[in-house]
Amino acid sequence: MDLAIVGLGRMGGNMARRLHQAGHRVIAYNRSREKTEEIVAEGLEGGFTPEEVVGMLPVPRIVWLMVPAGDATEATLGEFAELLAPGDTIVDGGNADFHDSKRRHEVLKAQGIRFVDAGISGGVWGLKNGYGTMVGGDPEAVGPLEPIFRSLAPEGGYVHCGPAGSGHYAKMVHNGIEYGLMQAYAEGFEILHASQYPLDLEAIAKAWNHGTVIRSWLLELAGLAFEQYGEGLDELRGWVADSGEGRWTVQEAIDLDVPAPVITLSLLTRFRSRQPESYGAKVLAALRQQFGGHAVRTEEAPE
Ligand SMILES: NC(=O)c1ccc[n+]([C@@H]2O[C@H](COP(=O)([O-])OP(=O)(O)OC[C@H]3O[C@@H](n4cnc5c(N)ncnc54)[C@H](OP(=O)(O)O)[C@@H]3O)[C@@H](O)[C@H]2O)c1
Repeated sequence: MDLAIVGLGRMGGNMARRLHQAGHRVIAYNRSREKTEEIVAEGLEGGFTPEEVVGMLPVPRIVWLMVPAGDATEATLGEFAELLAPGDTIVDGGNADFHDSKRRHEVLKAQGIRFVDAGISGGVWGLKNGYGTMVGGDPEAVGPLEPIFRSLAPEGGYVHCGPAGSGHYAKMVHNGIEYGLMQAYAEGFEILHASQYPLDLEAIAKAWNHGTVIRSWLLELAGLAFEQYGEGLDELRGWVADSGEGRWTVQEAIDLDVPAPVITLSLLTRFRSRQPESYGAKVLAALRQQFGGHAVRTEEAPE
């Protein structure tokens, strides 16, 4: 099939390559031209303005956005929607808030443009391993695009979840689960690291992936990380970002009265990781000192 991939970052660039390798005709486009030039040098077609990209596509056109959620997606979608015509389709493959996707579906529908939300998982390994592909949208919009989804996904890794927004909803919860799984591994390895035994964490991570109940791809990545950085992870700071989906999962759990303590605490642990010093812990220390005369530590006398 013919489609444009808009946004050639860590995800979009490799997705364009994977679709090209699968025999699709991909028109690559990126806000700054260097990434387009790079991928054109590899043999893909590229456009350097939205007008040029739209002009290179046969009708009905398919434009796949792969840019950061929020303002970048809103602006890029608006820019392309103005150039498209009834019957064309915009796919948003970024990690958008599903509320935004439902709204965009309605706005574009009024213009006769189809909107499909696609939750994509697989990170930088997707080019080789394929991308988990969770799609939301009207059947008449999703159906014609299935050859693309099946080329992106590994065998069995594509699902049409339901109506507009449901692909990004599934991806939101997927990422919430990811937060909880990663936190459990992080805590387990910290206990091993602190233990009385001289444990080889790289060897344990790798061995655990053979036959154990907790084997997983994340555990494979833990083994690779210990291999790359050494068991002490000395080069890294314990600072962990979050990009929205964990928050949205927790908010959705609250809205639905669903108890989700693991995902919630794993999100809050990321907040704590970004504080050089915990103000709340200072308040606790001060209160213990006030009521019980318990010792506090100050910068001048840290120990
Ligand atoms: N990385 C992952 O593991 C992962 C996994 C699943 C889904 N996602 C989602 O996939 C999307 C892309 O992620 P990524 O990791 O590929 O990001 P990235 O490597 O940071 O690349 C972002 C791309 O979007 C473009 N862009 C940024 N701001 C823009 C704007 N205001 N207008 C137009 N283009 C803009 C950038 O162009 P320039 O080159 O000009 O800056 C770049 O090509 C995001 O929604 C992300 O949440 C990421």
